[in-house]
Amino acid sequence: MKKKSVYINTIGCQMNVYDTEQIIRALFTIGYRPVALMDKADLIIVNTCAIREKAEQKAFSFLGRLAAMKRKNPGLIVGIGGCVAQQEGRKIFKRMPHVDLVFGTRAIGRLHHIIQQIESKKCRIVDVEIENDRCDFISLNDINGNADLENKSKFVTIMQGCDNFCTYCVVPYVRGREISRKPEDIINEIGKLVDSGVREITLLGQNVNSYGKKEGLCSFPELLSLVNDIEGLSRIRFTTSHPKDLSKELILAFNYLDKLCNHIHLPVQSGSNKILKKMNRKYTRELYIENIEKLRHNCVDIAVTSDIIVGFPGETESDFEDTISLVNHVKFDGLFAFIYSDRPNAPAAGFLNKVPEKEKKERLQRLLDLQKIHTDKNNRALTGSVEKVLVEGLSKMQCIGKSEKADGVQEWTGRTSTNRIVNFIDPAFCNSGKESMHIAAGKMVDVKIEKAMAHSVWGKAVKTEPELINSKGVKSYAA
Ligand code: 5AD
Ligand code: SF4
Repeated sequence: MKKKSVYINTIGCQMNVYDTEQIIRALFTIGYRPVALMDKADLIIVNTCAIREKAEQKAFSFLGRLAAMKRKNPGLIVGIGGCVAQQEGRKIFKRMPHVDLVFGTRAIGRLHHIIQQIESKKCRIVDVEIENDRCDFISLNDINGNADLENKSKFVTIMQGCDNFCTYCVVPYVRGREISRKPEDIINEIGKLVDSGVREITLLGQNVNSYGKKEGLCSFPELLSLVNDIEGLSRIRFTTSHPKDLSKELILAFNYLDKLCNHIHLPVQSGSNKILKKMNRKYTRELYIENIEKLRHNCVDIAVTSDIIVGFPGETESDFEDTISLVNHVKFDGLFAFIYSDRPNAPAAGFLNKVPEKEKKERLQRLLDLQKIHTDKNNRALTGSVEKVLVEGLSKMQCIGKSEKADGVQEWTGRTSTNRIVNFIDPAFCNSGKESMHIAAGKMVDVKIEKAMAHSVWGKAVKTEPELINSKGVKSYAA
C-alpha cells in the first residue's frame, strides 16, 4: 500500500480531539500517516467546532487559506469534518470550491471508504447522514496502533449526541440524539491504551450522567467502577456532567473509587433562575448549590469547575448579579466564561431582548476579574503542601526564581488530581545538571508547592514512584 500523509487541524472540545484520533485510525487502514507539517500532506482535514460563532469563523478562515495550496497542488485532497461540516453540509462546496470532502460527526466510521472513492473517482463527496440509533467507533487494534504514544493522558468517548436541547446550544442538531457505547467496548479500548503506556483516561460525553439509560446498559457510576478495576491505569476523569442529573451514586463514587480524580466539571451557565428557565436547563440555582454542598460534604477537597454564558437574550443587570453572587457563593476552582452567540437552529437565536455586544464584553470582564480572585486564592492555598502530580512532559526550558537561577533548567509540567497545573523542577538537576529522580511523562511525582502563579503553581519534586517494565516492554510505575 502506498504511504500517504494526512494533516489534521483540530478545533474545539475534547470530543473533537478524540474524533481526530478516530479519523487517524480510519485513515491508517488505507495507508495514511499523520504529519506535523501541512505542506508535506496529501490530505488536509479541518475538524471543526460549531459551539460558538468564533470557532466556526476559525474553521472557515483556515479552509480559505488552503485554496492557494490546492491551486499549486491540484492532487491535494481538502476535507472538512465535525460540527460545522454537519451543520453546513453541501453549502460548503458553493462557498469553498477547493473543498473535496464534507463529512459529518457520525461519518468517521465510513471515512476510509469515502477517501478511497475521492482518490479513484476524483469526485467531491458530502456525507452528513446521522442515524440516531447507530454510532460507529473505530476500535484501537494492533494494526492502527496508538496515534500519539507520547501522551499518557487520553480521551475516550463513551457516548455521542445529546437529548437536552438547551436553547442556546447547537450540539443536539450537529451531533444527533444521545447514544451510548457498550461498556465492554469502552473497557477494551482503555485496556489497550493502558497496555501502550497511558495512565490517565478522561471519559467523554455531553451528559455522562445519563450514560446507558436509553439502551439499558450499566449506569455511569457502574461504568466508572469497571474502569477503576483496570490494572495499570492511575487516574480517571470525566466530562461533562449535567447538574440536573447528578446522582447520589456518582457523588458517592468520589469516595470509594480510588482512581477517580477529585474534580468535577459541572456547568452552571447562569446564576439567575429566570435565565436558567429560558435556557431550558431544568434546575434552579438552589438545586445547583445543594449539589455542590453534597459533593463537598462527601469529598472535602473536591475541585469544582464550571461554564458560564454571559449576555444570554433577556439577561438584565440583576440576572447577571445573580450569576456574580453564585460565583461568590460557590467559589469555583476554575471557570470557563463565554459571551453568548446565536447558533443556527438553536431556539435562543430567535429570542428577543438581545444584550448589546459592549455590555456582554463588560459582563465577561467582570466575571473573569472575579474568578481571578478565587483562582489566586486557591492557588496560594496550595503553597507549602506536597501534591501528587501526574507528569505530562517537559514545560518550556526556563530560568526560574533567583535562588535556582540557571540557564536551561529542566522544568516539568503535570496536574494534580484536582486538575491544577503544576510546573516543577528536580532540585538535584538544578545543582548538578543531573536528574536524581528519573522524571518522565506518565510518572507520578510528589511535588512541594512553593509559588502560586496566575494559572498554575510551581514547586520542587520530592519523590517519584519506582519504574517497572511490563511483559510487553512498556514502562509502568508502582503506585
Ligand atoms: N454561546 C456561548 N456559549 C455557548 N456554549 C454553548 N453554546 C453557546 C452559545 N451559543 C458554552 C456553554 C457550554 C460550553 C461548552 O460552551 O457554556 O457549557
Ligand atoms: Fe448543549 Fe445542553 Fe446538550 Fe450540553 S446538555 S450539549 S449545553 S444541549
